[in-house]
Amino acid sequence: MYEKSVELLNLSIGDEMAAAHQYMYFHFHCDDMGLDLLSMLFKRTAIEEMMHIEILADRVLFLKGEIEMTPNKPVEKITDVKAMLDWAVASETGAILQYNKWALECSAHADSTTKKLFEQLVGDEERHFSQFDDELANMAKFGPNYLALQSIERSKATSMLPLNRPGGGGTAG
Ligand SMILES: [Fe+2]
Ligand SMILES: [Fe+2]
Repeated sequence: MYEKSVELLNLSIGDEMAAAHQYMYFHFHCDDMGLDLLSMLFKRTAIEEMMHIEILADRVLFLKGEIEMTPNKPVEKITDVKAMLDWAVASETGAILQYNKWALECSAHADSTTKKLFEQLVGDEERHFSQFDDELANMAKFGPNYLALQSIERSKATSMLPLNRPGGGGTAG
């Protein structure tokens, strides 16, 4: 009787996997560009999407289904920061809409726990949306200076590291 819920949960796992991979890709590129704040935001969000996969998969197993671990789309090679944030805002918007609809569908199939799970995800995806939307607003407001400031923060942090004594060995890192 829970076939519909298992199907929706597995579709969600595919979406969450694709989102987690894409956010890690953005994290790597932002880190490479020295954009520490955005880099950490993408990494944190990727980790939260991974945690979504975990609760979805737990529910599939509880309902005696099998977990389908297949990302629903490949990683897009987006390296422009504005385009990354546009992707993130569109992705979170889609997730909010979808999980709202699927909560109602689970309700119609008399599965109130999966309904609540989807509602809980809506709350998280709305928070993600808001964080990425704020970043887009900052970029629009401050222009290229916004990214330049992040790079300067990286340079400042690096220049404050303790000196390595030549040939001194010492502690790693
Ligand atoms: Fe998610
Ligand atoms: Fe999200």
